[in-house]
Amino acid sequence: MEQTVEIRSKVTNKPSRIGKKYYVKTFGCQMNEHDSERIAGLFQADGMIQAQSEELADVLFVNTCTIRENADDKLYGTLGQLKKWKNLEANRRLLVGGCAAQKDKELVRKKAPWVDVVLGTHNLTNVINLLNQAEDWGPVTEILDEISTLPTDAPSIRESEYSAWLTIQIGCNNSCTFCIVPSVRGEEISRRPADIVNEAKQLVQEGVKEITLLGQNVNSYGRDLRIDGKARPYFAQLLEKLNEIDGLERIRFTSPHPKDFKEETLIAVRDLDKVCNQIHVPLQSGSSKVLSKMHRGYSKERYLEKIDLIRSINKDVSLTSDIIVGFPSETDKDFEDTLEVVRYSKFDSVYMFKFSPRPGTPAFDMVDKFVEKKVIDERFNKLKEIQTEISTVRYSRFVGTHQKILIENQSKKDQSVLSGKIDSGQITHIMETGINFGDLVDVKIYDSTPFYLKAKLI
Ligand code: 5AD
Ligand code: SF4
Repeated sequence: MEQTVEIRSKVTNKPSRIGKKYYVKTFGCQMNEHDSERIAGLFQADGMIQAQSEELADVLFVNTCTIRENADDKLYGTLGQLKKWKNLEANRRLLVGGCAAQKDKELVRKKAPWVDVVLGTHNLTNVINLLNQAEDWGPVTEILDEISTLPTDAPSIRESEYSAWLTIQIGCNNSCTFCIVPSVRGEEISRRPADIVNEAKQLVQEGVKEITLLGQNVNSYGRDLRIDGKARPYFAQLLEKLNEIDGLERIRFTSPHPKDFKEETLIAVRDLDKVCNQIHVPLQSGSSKVLSKMHRGYSKERYLEKIDLIRSINKDVSLTSDIIVGFPSETDKDFEDTLEVVRYSKFDSVYMFKFSPRPGTPAFDMVDKFVEKKVIDERFNKLKEIQTEISTVRYSRFVGTHQKILIENQSKKDQSVLSGKIDSGQITHIMETGINFGDLVDVKIYDSTPFYLKAKLI
């Protein structure tokens, strides 16, 4: 029989699953990837070892996403398949966490009663306790409305030895009408700078060369830490502190909000040697009418002013963006405005999304203004075509230049191809022997595509 548990002891008293194998399957954004690393850390502290694949696992954690409709569909498909996995061995345990669990706990339970533990985004540090409860008493669900522990409390098992996520802030205080995140991730809370700097130093000691600061709204970092009620450039100050850490090579951050960019942050990107030359400026739409319906807090003109400000301070910076096509009431003219901003802004690359109505968000109720699927598809393809042309030109500017890349991956198709990113974030392929993962190598770019660069060692 299912029970809802109130107890929240942080860690297990003693490791209880020594030698058992776990696997964490992750959907969604970097926030979720990082949460999964923390889940893996807690599993290992409990004595478990990582399985090569989910088929070989005794304990499987599915970390879910709910940002768009297809994320939900994928989840329920996956849970259906996992019924077979669970039934193959009597002692297998299935845990479901993350954003879909936070939002739809009843639905997860109803659609997949074979799940042992359902837990939300605010209490993942309680995972071992919940697993124990499920083993002792049967399926459990624990979803908290408010955060119980900030990210410092859990150890992490990282996928990469050389680059690491570092959470500086959780939650989001904005109210974009399309977005489900504020309702699943809660209000914005900044971690203390000292905790962040200590964690960064610890990571460097473990061999990390590049950190990516994570938050839903990183450039408003520190708003909740104000002592005298005055707005200060807290994010720029945090970047300065992190820039001083010996042994750290690169600092990236994601995701900022265009309305919260302060000049100090842009100057920090320009002047601090470790902060990478790349800024994400999520546009969402180029139409002032649509932006207002989205509740974005800026108009087309204000956005263009931000782009001008960024380029006036940091001429060579790489800009990237997120755009939603087909928000309710978007007309051809509105879409043309988006294309105009795209052409003007010259993004290096854009993450493009078709509007997906999320139950519980204001945009879901704009149903009488929904744009036809066929029209959304056409606009999406048009945007893709135009951005690919822009990316082709943008990426070609690196040909002939000298860059540094941090070697991080090996191509799955061709093992002789290694890859990493240059300072401004473009993925770069290199075919050389004698270099290793984690090397920061000097290269010359000799060719480009709209999606990656090709390099040779200097
Ligand atoms: N439909 C489509 N795209 C969305 N995004 C967020 N919510 C939705 C939605 N309901 C996109 C936004 C955001 C990115 C992470 O996902 O562009 O910046
Ligand atoms: Fe990340 Fe949002 Fe998906 Fe949650 S719902 S995993 S915060 S993208």
